Amino acid sequence: MFVDTLITNIGQLLTMNKQGPVKGVEMNDLTILENAAIGIKDGKIEWIKKADEISAVKTDKLIDAKGKLVTPGLVEPHTHLVFGGSREQEMALKQQGVPYLEILKQGGGILSTVNATKQASFEELLEKALFHLDRMAMHGITTVEAKSGYGLDKETELKQLRVAKEAGSKHPLDLVSTFLGAHAVPPEFKDNPKAFLDQMSGLFDEIKKDDLAEFVDIFTETGVFSVEQSRGYLQKAKEKGFGLKIHADEIDPLGGTELAVEMGAVSGDHLAVTSDEGIKQLAASDTIGVILPGTSFYLGKDVYARAREMIDAGAAIAISTDFNPGSSVTENLQLIMAIAALKLKLSPAEIWHAVTINSAYAIGRGHEAGSLAAGRKADIVIWDAPNYLYLPYHYGVNHANTVIKDGVTLYE
Ligand code: NIG
Ligand code: FE
Repeated sequence: MFVDTLITNIGQLLTMNKQGPVKGVEMNDLTILENAAIGIKDGKIEWIKKADEISAVKTDKLIDAKGKLVTPGLVEPHTHLVFGGSREQEMALKQQGVPYLEILKQGGGILSTVNATKQASFEELLEKALFHLDRMAMHGITTVEAKSGYGLDKETELKQLRVAKEAGSKHPLDLVSTFLGAHAVPPEFKDNPKAFLDQMSGLFDEIKKDDLAEFVDIFTETGVFSVEQSRGYLQKAKEKGFGLKIHADEIDPLGGTELAVEMGAVSGDHLAVTSDEGIKQLAASDTIGVILPGTSFYLGKDVYARAREMIDAGAAIAISTDFNPGSSVTENLQLIMAIAALKLKLSPAEIWHAVTINSAYAIGRGHEAGSLAAGRKADIVIWDAPNYLYLPYHYGVNHANTVIKDGVTLYE
């Protein structure tokens, strides 16, 4: 029996191999294999066996996991990967207590990144995106969702989407693209957001034709787009065959969560101030709640999504960095796992589901990523950790020891 790569001496193996997305109490139900070995062939998992069943196996590459924790590569379901510039000057404003939406209203925030992104060349944006993807990979992420939304005009939105596509084809990580043209109202459309949405929905055909995005997302928020405007826009996207996502109930509870459920969105994201009714509807739906506790943390808020109540009510939850230059500037999903434990009060088992199988389903990749089983992608991380409890516990540093993507070792 021959495999390209054999991983032996695994302390704890989390396969996360369930019919996902995993909802409610089941998120706390983790299967841990001890003394397992993984055979990899042609970039896929050939088999998972007990260590004592592999004496006849021959291989080109033997990896000794030295009794450490092994899991699927992390799946990052919500990032704003492609952008120009940075916004470190805003930190002082935040310290003075100027609210996020006020900075945006004054032409800063998202709009300042829009200016920097317009000015940046394709090559500059690509180089920057690849740099951030490298960093994510180093931290154990093997699949990444990337949104546009820093163009807010036809040309720059398409430039961002084309950069994401190029980055996805150049970089070993898998990239899933989302069109977020409806991310803010540009100053020239200040009095007519509806006309701006019409302009953005005018791009749907070209985006489809050139295969530039699978999902359409919108920022449903006070001073950005109302629930009614969002509904009309998302309806058009749905008719064109896009999957739907919503930046919902991040700052003001407008009912974006309920809208995500109503529209059959694959995910409602943020959900920091979702209403009781929204939680109930989410739990009864197939929409996944993508929770971004790093954003509450980084915006200096005391309000965190009620993810504990959402899971207790029966919802499926995923967790993400929300990596972007304004509200959450980190590529380290491991740090967010710690914040999820401390601030959302999720258990380690729930957190592991939220960053693997559920996040894969939140971006339409549940069939190939976020879990380990014969035939799935060999996206695997060996962690410098003795067990699965350890990652949320030891926070702020990188525990990824060996990162394997499609069977190839990227970092060791
Ligand atoms: O998910 N809230 C909207 N969009 C991003 C932030 C973007 C930015 O500040 O540049 C978010 O938090
Ligand atoms: Fe976001």
